[in-house]
Amino acid sequence: MRAALLFSAATLVAATPFTPKKAEPAKPLTAAQKADYAKVIQPIFDAHCVSCHGPKKEKGKLRLDTLEATLKGGKNPTFAIGKPDSSMLLSRVFLDRTAGDVMPPKAEKPLTEKQKEALYAFVEGQPIPDELAKSAMADTKAAATAAKEAAKDAPKAKK
Ligand code: HEC
Repeated sequence: MRAALLFSAATLVAATPFTPKKAEPAKPLTAAQKADYAKVIQPIFDAHCVSCHGPKKEKGKLRLDTLEATLKGGKNPTFAIGKPDSSMLLSRVFLDRTAGDVMPPKAEKPLTEKQKEALYAFVEGQPIPDELAKSAMADTKAAATAAKEAAKDAPKAKK
């Protein structure tokens, strides 16, 4: 019995084709994907991420202030277009707000569902549907405006 089990396990292993672990060359983004990035995605990063992942601070060695920097990644790769399920960036953004690793960090304003859905669609390699793009952009604008207001009030409030 035991021998038979071992034997079948060995044949299974042998039958699995060996695939070398070589990174696939990244496909260049299409013009439409670049346009979606510029219109919907970069503004989300600008409003919610670049204060820690940009020219002033480079947390996790990651910058998200340009498409090139975003695609380059930080200590780890951010995402490959077409592979949303193995994206480090998406998984951190979609974590529960109580998780220690969630991005933006717990103390920061979270992304809205629409912003997250737009990010997901982009990483999937899908065109971001118009309605979704509009809602996500409205959310981003609201967050950016709120941040500006807070910055104006900050010197008065003097924490
Ligand atoms: C208040 C600062 C802050 C903000 C805002 C912030 N992050 Fe981070 N982020 C960090 C810190 C600190 C780390 C490094 C430690 C870690 O990996 O948790 C990090 C790490 C990361 C990493 C892992 C980098 C790597 O290669 O290991 C990703 C991906 C990431 N952040 C994405 C985002 C995204 C997307 C946003 C905006 C939606 C964002 N972060 C906003 C502070 C921030």
